[in-house]
Amino acid sequence: MASSKTILRALAGETLPTPPIWMMRQAGRYLPEYRATRAQAGDFLKLCYNPELAAEVTLQPIRRYGFDAAILFADILLIPQALGADLWFVTGEGPRLSTITAQADFDKLGPVSDIHETLNPIYETVKILSDALPSETTLIGFAGAPWTVATYMIAGQGTPDQGPAHALRMENTPLFEALLDRITEATIDYLSMQIQAGAEVVKIFDSWAGSLKGDAFLKYSLEPARRITAALKAKHPNTPIIGFPREAGDGYIGFAKATGVDCVALDNSVSAAWAAKNVQVDGCVQGNLKSSHMVTGGQPLVDETKAIVKAFSGGPHIFNLGHGITPDADPDNVQRMIDAVRDV
Ligand code: CP3
Repeated sequence: MASSKTILRALAGETLPTPPIWMMRQAGRYLPEYRATRAQAGDFLKLCYNPELAAEVTLQPIRRYGFDAAILFADILLIPQALGADLWFVTGEGPRLSTITAQADFDKLGPVSDIHETLNPIYETVKILSDALPSETTLIGFAGAPWTVATYMIAGQGTPDQGPAHALRMENTPLFEALLDRITEATIDYLSMQIQAGAEVVKIFDSWAGSLKGDAFLKYSLEPARRITAALKAKHPNTPIIGFPREAGDGYIGFAKATGVDCVALDNSVSAAWAAKNVQVDGCVQGNLKSSHMVTGGQPLVDETKAIVKAFSGGPHIFNLGHGITPDADPDNVQRMIDAVRDV
């Protein structure tokens, strides 16, 4: 039987009169209610590992806006932590981790079988959400893609060009590939547990895919996504998967066919017209409004939203931003975007 949930219908390949909508980082600092719950939790990581409060912040944007999907509140860097890396967040700067630059650093990581000890609260959050969400709202689980997660594990922080990760992959390829393998295996188990706990869709965030070119993109972005997708499909054939090789450019072409993902999420560096012709021909796409519109608002926000809806109207489409909403966004602009998509 076809699902009544619009996101699941789009992911199954249906072209809907109005695209379903959700937003990357929809639970976040632009919302006063998020900031209040985060303060109650103490800090960001405590919030991630507190199932009641993590479920609460996941639900906040659903209550406020009625998005068609909720995304589990967690972070892609919990996997490194579950593998034994140190992880902390510096206010105003971002994540910090112990670094992996030599075999001895890698040897200190734990086995994949141990990750659930750390990650159990996340599965608990998923369970709470799958009971608490309105019946029309789809629950999306997620993980970082191995390359993107590895860039943080190698450098110990975010970097503008992922330089340390590129250096390691060229100077010590076996170590780099062993690290990617470990993350890939952990990610398969982590996402499988999220699905067992009630996630109806999972998304793989490869935020730094765009810095891999040519063969390196195929080996370290596309191939891990294919491996994760194949392993998950073997266990959970009915759970759709969204791939997000951010800023892949021409790498978006054929990505769904090559990896087996059900939907390709697009960033806003590609035009909707180009993506409709080159990517949506293979199935569902998600995206791709520039997130700065959530700060600047006005008529350009409405015009650009409607242009994207129109460009993708000939095939299956889930409306979203091209990247996460930023803390300086105006919550009223989110409502303007939703109204423009739903044409109210
Ligand atoms: O989308 C959602 O609402 C679900 C929750 C979610 C978070 N992070 C919460 C978060 C998701 C899906 C992520 C993914 C994530 N985390 C990615 C991939 C997507 C992307 O944005 O490219 C990456 C690269 C990370 C790593 C990460 N987490 C960074 C670099 C930072 C610091 C930058 C920043 O925005 O502050 C985080 C922190 C983070 N993750 C916050 C949230 C709501 C802000 C933390 C806070 O409340 O202070």
